[in-house]
Amino acid sequence: MSAVDFIEQNLHPDGSQACIILNETAQDERAREALLDRAMGTSRRRKSSEKLRRGRLPSAGLAFVARGEDGTLLGTVRLWDIQTGHDAAGKPVRALLLGPLAVDPSVKGQGIGAALMHHATAEAARLGHGAIILVGDPEYYERFGFSGANTSGLAMPGPVERRRFLALELKQGHLDGAHGLLTPRGRRSSRAMRVLPVSLRFSM
Ligand SMILES: CC(C)(COP(=O)(O)OP(=O)(O)OC[C@H]1O[C@@H](n2cnc3c(N)ncnc32)[C@H](O)[C@@H]1OP(=O)(O)O)[C@@H](O)C(=O)NCCC(=O)NCCS
Repeated sequence: MSAVDFIEQNLHPDGSQACIILNETAQDERAREALLDRAMGTSRRRKSSEKLRRGRLPSAGLAFVARGEDGTLLGTVRLWDIQTGHDAAGKPVRALLLGPLAVDPSVKGQGIGAALMHHATAEAARLGHGAIILVGDPEYYERFGFSGANTSGLAMPGPVERRRFLALELKQGHLDGAHGLLTPRGRRSSRAMRVLPVSLRFSM
C-alpha cells in the first residue's frame, strides 16, 4: 500500500484539521528539536541510536516533518545511512536507521505517526534502500511490518533491549546472514541539507 493510499484510507472522521508531510528543511531544526524534547525528554540524546546519528546528516531525501494547516510542526521522522555488519560472505550490508519518530503530545493518536511511518518507508523503498532498522516498541512498529526476525545477529553500539531491536526488509532477503555491529555511514553534518518539494497532503 502506498503512503497516499494509506492516508486516503485513514482520514480522520472529523476532517477538522489538515496536515501535510513535507521534506524537512534546515529551517525546521529548532522546532524539531523542541518537539523531540517535549515528546521524548532530553535523555533521548543518550540513546545508543544517537551514536549512529551524531555528526551525520540524514540519508538524502529521507527526513520528513508533518505540519498543521497553520504551519506548526506536529511530527518528525528521519532515516540515517548505516552499515549493518556483514553478510555470510563477509560483504558489508547497508541499511537505514529510522528515528527518532515523534509526534507532538497535543496531537497524539490522530494518525500522524502512522502517516509519517508509511511515507518514510515508502520513500525509502522508492529510493532503492534494502532494509530499515530501528529501536522501538514492537507493539507500535509491528503494524508497519517491523520485527526482530532479522536482528538476532546484529549489535547496537551500546545497550539495547533485544525485543525492541527491529528491522523491516524493503528488499526480500536483504538482511540474510547479516551479523555484527551497526556503524554510521552517513554524510557528515557539515554539508548543506538538501531541500526537496512538498510531497503529500492529507486530513486527520
Ligand atoms: C509513538 C508516536 C510517534 C505515535 O504517534 P501517534 O501519531 O500518536 O500514533 P498514531 O496516531 O499513528 O497511532 C496511535 C496508535 O498507536 C498506539 N501507540 C502509540 N505509541 C505506542 C507504543 N509505544 N506502543 C504501542 N502502541 C502505541 C496508540 O495506542 C494508538 O493505538 P490505537 O490505534 O489502537 O488507538 C507518538 O506517540 C510519540 O511521539 N511518542 C513519544 C516519542 C516516542 O516514543 N517515539 C517512538 C520511539 S520508540
